Amino acid sequence: MSKDHEWEKEKSWIEADLKGLYPPNKITKIQGALELIRDENFSGKKVLDNGCGAGWFGKIIQDKGAEVIGTDISDALLEEASKYIPTKKASSCELPFGDQAFDYIVSIMVLHIFDDPDQAIEESWRVLKPGGKFYVGIVHPMADKWNEETGLCYLDPASYDKIEERTWIFNLTDGRKFTKHYLHRPLSFYESKFSRLFMINRKLEPKLPEKMRENGKYASTEYLFFELIKK
Ligand SMILES: C[S@@+](CC[C@H](N)C(=O)[O-])C[C@H]1O[C@@H](n2cnc3c(N)ncnc32)[C@H](O)[C@@H]1O
Repeated sequence: MSKDHEWEKEKSWIEADLKGLYPPNKITKIQGALELIRDENFSGKKVLDNGCGAGWFGKIIQDKGAEVIGTDISDALLEEASKYIPTKKASSCELPFGDQAFDYIVSIMVLHIFDDPDQAIEESWRVLKPGGKFYVGIVHPMADKWNEETGLCYLDPASYDKIEERTWIFNLTDGRKFTKHYLHRPLSFYESKFSRLFMINRKLEPKLPEKMRENGKYASTEYLFFELIKK
């Protein structure tokens, strides 16, 4: 299972993000996700937004004509997401759907939070049709060390190849703090997990827009995206 991440607080974080109040590094998350699906025709396709959070990505895909359902374990986030897409409470490790139920699965910023993502990866594989696509976004393992003072993520060459706990502390716009703990793993960890069941068709590292580089306030990339195809 994933660690306790105080996901209920994430709701406030995501709301702030949607209102443009949160530091705009997340722009690269949204850019990457949009780039992944740019050439897809979702008309009439069945799509699972696995770990949907507030449902923003599922909503975008639904607007492109897909039949979307979002799953998550957080009641607060499901309440938000259900304003936009149909939802169901479920863990990524135990999906309440039959085999080969979906044409696509999207799972953005979810798999890296599992101590062991094998079960979640296997469940996604099970509910995906043969040849179906699995879009995954994770925190970039080469830019996941958090410097609380600068608010920037960076590569720590001394620990890159280790499995090591990372802690991020965000200041929310409502004054609360939001703490995330998760395990850093090198890129090869994810590639070997994915390639057991999927073909890795594409990797994307969305770039920070030029104008946001100027003041050095934002990390150049915090996100890494994969397009996986079910073997
Ligand atoms: C960083 S948020 C990402 C949410 C959304 N995909 C997005 O891009 O905004 C991680 C999400 O994973 C959810 N989550 C954590 N553990 C989970 C689990 N075992 N099964 C399903 N979702 C989980 C959290 O509730 C949270 O909504």
